[in-house]
Amino acid sequence: MNQTDKKGHWENIYQTKEFHEVGWFQSRPDVSLEFIDILSVPKNAKIIDVGAGESYLVDHLLDRGFGNIYVLDISSSAIEKAKYRLGENAKKINWIVSDILEFKINIGFKLWHDRAAFHFLLKKEEIEKYVENAVKGIIPGGYLIIGTFSEKGPDKCSGLPVRRYSINELESTFLPYFKKIKALNIDHITPGGQVQNYSFCCFKRL
Ligand SMILES: C[S@@+](CC[C@H](N)C(=O)[O-])C[C@H]1O[C@@H](n2cnc3c(N)ncnc32)[C@H](O)[C@@H]1O
Repeated sequence: MNQTDKKGHWENIYQTKEFHEVGWFQSRPDVSLEFIDILSVPKNAKIIDVGAGESYLVDHLLDRGFGNIYVLDISSSAIEKAKYRLGENAKKINWIVSDILEFKINIGFKLWHDRAAFHFLLKKEEIEKYVENAVKGIIPGGYLIIGTFSEKGPDKCSGLPVRRYSINELESTFLPYFKKIKALNIDHITPGGQVQNYSFCCFKRL
């Protein structure tokens, strides 16, 4: 899928669907919050949610008092919808419309979060570029929280093919720059009642 098709797919999704209708909808991003809460990240630390879409994670980060939050998505429609939902609080967020592979990273993040965006990268060179960006973008001692469909999960997400990862495969993808500190598999139930098994890992940047 070329860049225009990829962006067009996501713009169309966010322009035609309500958040509570999409398969990845969560009323509360429990696993992500559980991982973030054990890390004791300082409140002024730079945090990015990559491929955030309309996720409520940003609302919970604001509630926890984090003051240096970046939200990145390839879809400007997703970003506009998230901004609209947050109202005045949207001014507290750094919004970035970009393909993560095109994003020129000159910010040192303490925490990088990605739920169900990385798994759309299928080509070896795309995966390598993402890892390179994460290595550049996360400061030593910082954290990467990543969630993908697991080896038992579906082979498509939002109608697009995905690469599925076991926890071991995620770990080997981010070696030798990251050390695994916590991981789990979890079933996500879509609004339509489908069960999707995810692999979630939290890594420390070495
Ligand atoms: C399945 S949704 C997950 C959204 C959100 N992380 C969540 O858990 O609710 C995937 C998101 O990643 C975004 N996305 C897909 N490929 C991307 C890329 N290459 N760069 C940035 N964002 C991307 C999509 O626009 C979409 O919002």
